[in-house]
Amino acid sequence: MLTNGQTTHLPYSRILVVDDVQTNLAITVEMLKPYCVTVDTLTDAMKAVSVIRAGEPKYDLVLMDYLMPGLDGVEAVQAIRNEIGTAYAKSLPIVALTGNRIVGNDAMFLRHGFQDAMSKPIDANRLDEILRKWVLHENPENTASPALATHAEPAVGFDIPGVDCDRGLLRFGGNDDAWRGVLASFVDHATSLLARIRTAPGEKELQEYATVIHGIKGAALGICANSIGIKAGALQTAAEDGRIAFVRDYHDRFVTEVGALVASVSAALAAARSPEPEMAEERKAKIDAFAGEFTKSLHSLASRRQQRIVLVDDNLTNLAIVRNMLNTLYRLHTVATGEMLFELLENIAPAIPDLILLDIETQGSGGFETLKALKANPKYRWIPVIFLTAQKDELCEMEGLALGAVDYVYKPLSAPLLQRRIENHLLIAKQNQTLHEQAEDLERLANSLHDMVVQKTEQVVGLQNAVLGTVAELIEFRDDVTGDHVVRTQKFLKLLIGRMEETGLYRQEVEEWNLELMIPSAQLHDVGKIAISDAILNKPARLTPAEFEIMKTHTTIGVEIIERIAKQTEDHELLRYAKRIAGTHHEKWDGSGYPYGLVGTTIPLEGRLMAIVDVYDALISKRPYKNAYSPRDAEQIILEGSCTHFDPELVRIFSDVSDQFASIATESGGAGSPGRPGFVAVLPAIGRVAS
Ligand SMILES: [Fe+2]
Repeated sequence: MLTNGQTTHLPYSRILVVDDVQTNLAITVEMLKPYCVTVDTLTDAMKAVSVIRAGEPKYDLVLMDYLMPGLDGVEAVQAIRNEIGTAYAKSLPIVALTGNRIVGNDAMFLRHGFQDAMSKPIDANRLDEILRKWVLHENPENTASPALATHAEPAVGFDIPGVDCDRGLLRFGGNDDAWRGVLASFVDHATSLLARIRTAPGEKELQEYATVIHGIKGAALGICANSIGIKAGALQTAAEDGRIAFVRDYHDRFVTEVGALVASVSAALAAARSPEPEMAEERKAKIDAFAGEFTKSLHSLASRRQQRIVLVDDNLTNLAIVRNMLNTLYRLHTVATGEMLFELLENIAPAIPDLILLDIETQGSGGFETLKALKANPKYRWIPVIFLTAQKDELCEMEGLALGAVDYVYKPLSAPLLQRRIENHLLIAKQNQTLHEQAEDLERLANSLHDMVVQKTEQVVGLQNAVLGTVAELIEFRDDVTGDHVVRTQKFLKLLIGRMEETGLYRQEVEEWNLELMIPSAQLHDVGKIAISDAILNKPARLTPAEFEIMKTHTTIGVEIIERIAKQTEDHELLRYAKRIAGTHHEKWDGSGYPYGLVGTTIPLEGRLMAIVDVYDALISKRPYKNAYSPRDAEQIILEGSCTHFDPELVRIFSDVSDQFASIATESGGAGSPGRPGFVAVLPAIGRVAS
């Protein structure tokens, strides 16, 4: 205590000073030096709460900055008074340090649990008053107001542009060493802060920027550089209000002015203490290294802050504690209940959070119900959820994990542990997302390949049909068949098979067929005619028995040709149908057909079907040796062939669709047209036309 030039020592007292601005801490420490009091300093209110919770060491007084990032002074005092709850914590004198102490504020500080308040920059008289009142417990009314000792010799050479050195020195009772210590602290602190704002901030960095400018403001006001302090205040407010244009316009000029102030203070200090070049170099290297580290950590912070975390907790102290732990690392949103969480999620969509911290004991629907609701929603189910709980309970933990929580963290929370767990789960979530994206890429690729395969298959089938069609046309050309026989037979087949599907006739066989291959394969039914001579094939008269025997071989030759093709290619389903049709389309139900004389259902169904279609089409077509039959006559011949030539069940099916057969026959224009004279032969001609 400085009274009439005499110092009162307080060697058994201990004071804790909490301020996020390092220069302010240095100033306070320097101002307390004459009292020989033990002083501890912290830049983090959360740590102050922990120290007081621990109860060791015990403090006689706490000087607490009112406004701090993270957990601020008011929140810290509330935590100390209400959460810790010990007699020591409830009665510990805590004095607010404020840069904005105005009339009426004192009542506000008392209401928030402070015992007193003191303006910054700290005035030595006011500090003395506080110490007497709260450490020595003197009654100020009984004590004469202390008069500060005045230093007889003001510091030599301390004329720093922008700094009110006289006033600053006066605040330290003329203690020149203390004043120089504070100025040196300003140089260190301001240099490190400047390194963090080399470029003007983006909109997302404004809050971070405001925190740095707040530090510069405190440091400047601490050394009575009031002009810079006021400008910093304006810039801080603009950044907090989101006035980006103002901040960007003003940024460069401000940084230049602060840089000039740092240089002036640094030069004045150097001049006053007869600098040693080695020391100056060492100091510069230290400052550079420090600035470099800060820049790196700023970049790291910037990238981490892109990630969004939501904390659900209805305990104000917990909210403040976690906010203090994470606010500088992530974009943190806090809500009190699960219902509010979903409101927030809807409001901030599509910026879905990267992680949720969920208090189990939270009010409203409760942590487990909130987790269930999150996991039931496809939009939110992948967000990692970490449960926070004060209860260490294995069953509870198992239930939470079973519901989909990724982890549990117990209270009281440890900042490094919580941060590390969050980092781990964010990393896992990111890896999961990468895997998910890769899976989606693979699926897209697979779909694309599938589309390509489908497209290629269509091309191959198209080509196949074109080849089949061409071969069939060649056969028709040699056989002197007119009209679009190939197209018609396929239409007839489709009609019969369609009706079979409707009625369920021979359901099992039909279901096993691949109709896209089976129907086109019918085009090869007469491929064996390639080997039959023109003399027989195009003979405009009835064939002799010997010629007819040769003609019959077109069935077995057709089978051979198809087998040869099959050997040269892969065993194709289409060729299997084709072989069966070519080999059996002249077999008859009663066993009188050729080449094998098969009976009834021993004739493959494909051959039995083709028999009806082939005969019907031959009947309605004009050939060199006959006229075309009318569809009605052709129908009659098919009906009469039931049980002898044709499968009676298939004939029944045919009769169901015979009108549609007639329509196709008429549309194609081949039916009913007159043939060449002399070649008309009705029933006797069947054996010929069906060859
Ligand atoms: Fe034939």
